[in-house]
Amino acid sequence: MKDPKKSTRQSNRDDLLQSPKGMRDLIGEDFHLMQGFFEKAAEVALYYGFQPIETPILEKAELFNRGSGESSDVITKEMYTLKTKGGDHLALRPEGTPPVMRAYFEHGMQAWPQPVMFYSFGPVFRHDNPQKGRYRQFYQFNLEVLGTKKSIADAMIIMLVYTILKESGLKDINLQVNSIGDSECRNTYRRELTTYYKKHLKDICPDCRERLKTNPLRLLDCKNPLCQPIKDSAPESVASLCPACKTHFKELLEYLESMNIPYEINSNLVRGLDYYTRTVFEIVTTKKAGDLTDQSPALALAGGGRYDGLAKILSGKKEVSAVGAGIGVDRVLMQPDYAKLTPRIIKKPKVFFIQLSQDAKQKSFEVIEALRKVKIPLAQSLSKDSLSIQLALAEKLGVPFVIILGQKEALENPGIIRNMDNRSQETVKIDKLADYLKKNV
Ligand code: HAM
Repeated sequence: MKDPKKSTRQSNRDDLLQSPKGMRDLIGEDFHLMQGFFEKAAEVALYYGFQPIETPILEKAELFNRGSGESSDVITKEMYTLKTKGGDHLALRPEGTPPVMRAYFEHGMQAWPQPVMFYSFGPVFRHDNPQKGRYRQFYQFNLEVLGTKKSIADAMIIMLVYTILKESGLKDINLQVNSIGDSECRNTYRRELTTYYKKHLKDICPDCRERLKTNPLRLLDCKNPLCQPIKDSAPESVASLCPACKTHFKELLEYLESMNIPYEINSNLVRGLDYYTRTVFEIVTTKKAGDLTDQSPALALAGGGRYDGLAKILSGKKEVSAVGAGIGVDRVLMQPDYAKLTPRIIKKPKVFFIQLSQDAKQKSFEVIEALRKVKIPLAQSLSKDSLSIQLALAEKLGVPFVIILGQKEALENPGIIRNMDNRSQETVKIDKLADYLKKNV
């Protein structure tokens, strides 16, 4: 009979060998595809004068409670928090924007020439319900411009995100923009929305009844079909904009038009984080990736907007106008048209190195080092001994040349170079191998 304790122990062991739910390993090509995307995005950002920043993965939880907003799902439901042995209350970053604003103050960047422009890349953590395109650890590429209220900065952020996605091969993308006004005109709008929804209390879902009390703007984010008709006829934020916010939005749309970036005004777009003012935008895919069904809502590949109020929320006094965006890199990589950008360090091997004896193994590093120094990418399988296995590996890789070092070659110092296309062979001294291949590869 099976020992139940033993089988529980075994299933605990099996569980131990699985990564945590919603988190995954990036191995080989998956890692390279991510790195390739990062290099492309960083290159575009660098050309526009952005500089890199890397903030800690752990921050004080309060930074996000205040910054991202205590009524946002990201904070109320999804943030991973922990108490350290010293009693500090920290959080795994659920997004990158409040940390960049924190760094702005910590390093006295108000005294730097404005605006200060950063790009960053790395993992973020949200205790979300994992499904296709939704992870608990996922990767964002972020752009932030701090220290300007000009609409051209909003346009630049949108332009860069759009360009990065386009140059990553994505074709079916749709830019949606909206303006939710500044703190004043948003109050007027919030009141209007509340009055409207109060008239329809009976027709909305329980979540929306709660949102009406805590954060009426999020009513427009509801995906429940029951609320759709109410949402569709709800008042629009652009109608409540004050003259300054209206001008800002008009200028942004003019920039987009002059850059030939197609857009759609989505009056239901309010975004899930509390710090936004004026411009909000998302770039969504219009094509379903992998096993997403036609019923699933369009996936947001990137989102962002202006956050003029965040600095004051965090610092208590100082105002810093800012705008930025985050690209969901995991979602970009799963798109069927993703261009599979390979990182610059990846070089397709041109040569396979075969060794056939202990003496030859001992010479291996000398040969590999000589080729590495002249930047000839090489593949090998030093743990193998047989000629046929190593030749088969070389065939599989499709390399144009193979170096063969047997007992005799290792002792007498010549190596054999075989041209894999015409099968011809030549004998070349080990210290001349690099020169020979440089000329012939
Ligand atoms: P966000 O819209 O919360 O914005 O996230 C940006 C992007 O991250 C989304 O458009 C989506 O592609 C991706 N994303 C979000 N959640 C997940 C998930 N669970 N799994 C996979 N991908 C996901 C922000 O985080 C803001 N900090 C962006 C920003 C920067 N706003 C101003 N500056």
